[in-house]
Amino acid sequence: MSRTDVTYVESVSPGNGRCAPRSAPASDAAAIGLDGEWRFNLAAGLHDLSEGFEAPGFDAGAWDAVAVPSIWQMHDLDGEAPYGTPQYVNIHYPFPVDPPRVPDANPTGEYRRTFTLPAEWPATGRTLLRFEGVDSAFAVWVNGILLGDGKGSRLPTEFDATEHLVPGENTVAVRVHQWSAGSYLEDQDTWRVSGIFRPVALVHRPENGIDDVFAHADYDHATGLGTLRVDAPVSARLTVPELGIDAATGETVTVPVEPWTAETPRLYEAVVATETERVSLRIGFRTVTIEDGVLKVNGKPILLRGVNRHEWDPDTGRTLTVETMRHDLELMKRHNVNAVRTSHYPPDRRFLDLCDELGVWVIDECDLETHGFYFYGWRNNPADDPQWREACLDRMARMVERDKNHASIIMWSLGNECHAGVNLEAMAAWAKQRDPDRLVHSESDYDSGYVDVYSRMYVPHDELELIGRREEESTVDPALDEHRRGLPFILCEYAHAMGNGPGGLADYQRVFERHERIAGGFIWEWIDQGIRRRTEDGREWFAYGGDFGETLHDGNFITDGLVFSDRTPSPGLVEYKKVIEPVRIAIDPEDRTIAVANGYDFADTGHLRFTWRMDDDGSLIAQGELELPVAQAGESVQVPWPDELSKAFETAGGERAVSVHAVLAGDSAWAQAGHEIAWGQAVLPCTAAPVAGPAASPVAVAGGYRLGGAEFDALGRLRVLDGIEVEGPQLDLWRAPVDNDRIAWGGTSTAERWRDRSAGLDRLEHKVLDIAAGDRSLKVTTRVGAAGAERAMHAEYEWTYRPESATLWLNVAVDPVGEWDFPLPRLGVRLAVPKAFDAATWFGGGPGEAYADSRAAARIGRYEASVAQMQTPYVLPQENGSRIDVRWARLASPDGAALRFSGAPHFAFTVRPWTTEDLAAATHPHELVERDRLSVNLDAALHGLGSASCGPGPLPEYRLQAGSTAFSLGFSTDRG
Ligand code: GAL
Repeated sequence: MSRTDVTYVESVSPGNGRCAPRSAPASDAAAIGLDGEWRFNLAAGLHDLSEGFEAPGFDAGAWDAVAVPSIWQMHDLDGEAPYGTPQYVNIHYPFPVDPPRVPDANPTGEYRRTFTLPAEWPATGRTLLRFEGVDSAFAVWVNGILLGDGKGSRLPTEFDATEHLVPGENTVAVRVHQWSAGSYLEDQDTWRVSGIFRPVALVHRPENGIDDVFAHADYDHATGLGTLRVDAPVSARLTVPELGIDAATGETVTVPVEPWTAETPRLYEAVVATETERVSLRIGFRTVTIEDGVLKVNGKPILLRGVNRHEWDPDTGRTLTVETMRHDLELMKRHNVNAVRTSHYPPDRRFLDLCDELGVWVIDECDLETHGFYFYGWRNNPADDPQWREACLDRMARMVERDKNHASIIMWSLGNECHAGVNLEAMAAWAKQRDPDRLVHSESDYDSGYVDVYSRMYVPHDELELIGRREEESTVDPALDEHRRGLPFILCEYAHAMGNGPGGLADYQRVFERHERIAGGFIWEWIDQGIRRRTEDGREWFAYGGDFGETLHDGNFITDGLVFSDRTPSPGLVEYKKVIEPVRIAIDPEDRTIAVANGYDFADTGHLRFTWRMDDDGSLIAQGELELPVAQAGESVQVPWPDELSKAFETAGGERAVSVHAVLAGDSAWAQAGHEIAWGQAVLPCTAAPVAGPAASPVAVAGGYRLGGAEFDALGRLRVLDGIEVEGPQLDLWRAPVDNDRIAWGGTSTAERWRDRSAGLDRLEHKVLDIAAGDRSLKVTTRVGAAGAERAMHAEYEWTYRPESATLWLNVAVDPVGEWDFPLPRLGVRLAVPKAFDAATWFGGGPGEAYADSRAAARIGRYEASVAQMQTPYVLPQENGSRIDVRWARLASPDGAALRFSGAPHFAFTVRPWTTEDLAAATHPHELVERDRLSVNLDAALHGLGSASCGPGPLPEYRLQAGSTAFSLGFSTDRG
């Protein structure tokens, strides 16, 4: 290939001039990092390349300096965005589908730098240039000499530079193309971004050095023995001092060991040495098997409590620091996550080191997705086209060879959403012969002919139940069907964490735990892939698809994570933590016992400390330590209540709540002592009946009515309570649609039904039919419906005032008029109160928001928060912030005045500085402007969340069906 030969860009070949893939173990051989400042120029395409840019004498003095590694589209986005902006598309290719051709508008980065070969650099051996990740295709020159080219963005590539290096200063030049034939294999649902985005290094390979090692470290759970064999291309000496091992490479050694598991990530330091090189390895002994259709590690079934993780940072895109990788894993471990699918490509290698060290099960996924061919009947699908075979196999080999020594990896995944194909089959066969000790995964081929696990995405609960029982529908081919029915099952993606949600997690977990065939699942996805921006006045916001003016984009579908873009845990992650807690605590107030079921697969409960607390009407009255015998994995233990707890329980006079917490007894690598792992709570409603007392009579006054301290206008609407201006309450059925209401794949979304002209829940009008000021109450009868709609709600408000408690009670009776063949968003009342009342206290579920099908994490207690703190900043504003099971709530102003809402017995409580309409209209949180009133919703019920933005909607039991309903609420005030 000549200098100007750019045919590699559109060639299906994976590359030219590259070295064979290898694990590249940590070594004492010489190496220098080439990260740092490089000279950079962005050409518009192949027609615009800088002549001779690779030559040592080229004058790049006028070029910019950019950091390597980095993504070029992530530079200065709030300024000049000198290298273009990111584009987000999900399934569609971002260019015309004409494989292997790509557009002429093919931004091409030209990178140059010099480096000095250290004087002591060894004179013998070879020197390689190693790239950990370059998106999407590139060619490399050293001192003007072409070394080769490569593709496979998230995989390493090495070139041998030995012959072309000179003592002293050397020049390296790299040309990187945004689009290439390789882009047809990288149609993952993420930002399309480019550049040398992972580290670059110059590494020395000594003569008789250890280019590669393959550690086979099995564990026999029956004998407790580990078997170790380390293969290397040269003969070398293996030592594992802690195990007293000193053996030759290729030799098998069997010794007693502690096994590696995600719960107990025991690693042994090993050294493999020749006379010229020492490489170090960390060995974890574990055996992955399938027995009787059940996935096992070290002889035990495992349950994957997983997440799908894209590599993303809101400031640097796909370039992550080790600190960010560690932070991700620590956050996962603190939230009881025990597995990661590296969707949809092999991660930065350092992430896998951390997985070994901190302990998570990993499905390592190949950098392969061809989803965009779906729209064309999978015609020309590279996964099934022999001309792409080499490219596919090359990617698989580069992943397996790089990552084969990681104890954490239990499965190799062929890629994502490639449908089925001969090349996938070839990749599976290759992986199995190269590494028979791990399983092969692919979600793309539902017949599962060449994989070891049956894997699907977004399966609804009822179908999952059938799969659990091995009673799923048959595949077409009976032989394949038999094979598949014998496989373990995983949900490689489920519970789409987009916006408010996902709902239904606890229901999934119950199915997982019921069936040994199901080895668990992976939430889609770990992080909202938003991009941090700032308004001109410095306020932060996060961009999604379309925010860079992309002509083709998929909006906020890119922000669907359990952590927000800035890695703050979302309510969804807090819910997931509770749902997957590895220890279940059951408190029985009748028998006065506490039972702890150990749901770990391997660990006993010895690392946990248990505490109890007793609350009376939400106030702590006693607490203490709980002595519990250690429970082995899978075992349960039960103890009677400590005397002190029983005593406190008997003395309490109000609503009693007994809580038990399991916390880390000591520091771990990912959390400090005291970190909570699991909790249980038993709540005993107060049995004393409330004293009703006599009711006051309403009085008609000029322009309305008066009832105790309450003033109503001529239409019977509450306007003032004890001197505080209050507007409403009125029936409210509307919520700003959550993403799961809004998106329906191929059908009519729930939100479309709500907004339909025949429903109009977003624009309800209230018509007063009758006002009756009786002896004891004020009754206002209304019909609530939308312009154009015949369907309506009949709503009757009955107001009573109890002087004894100075409480105004409202009973709302709601009756649907006409057919309501869709669920209601919410059923309750909405009112507005002065903005100053922005300090909330409530007794009920908290501390975070909760909805019908996402409420496991809500515990009953007394909470305080400002109204601002009660807002959840979903990237696309939508319904949020509802606190459930609220007994009473109070909104106080700085001058000490307060409004109090009481339930009979409970309500859901939401308060915002803007209206539901504002929330529904905004496209980003920073667009929301506070009003001079707070909007308060007091709900009898809310529709569930489900996961319909990708997956099933709320289960029937969480759908809010219209029907005759009545609920009561109390209103009172505190003055100073
Ligand atoms: C899956 C896909 C993911 C993501 C998800 C929806 O089908 O594998 O990459 O697109 O849907 O967010």
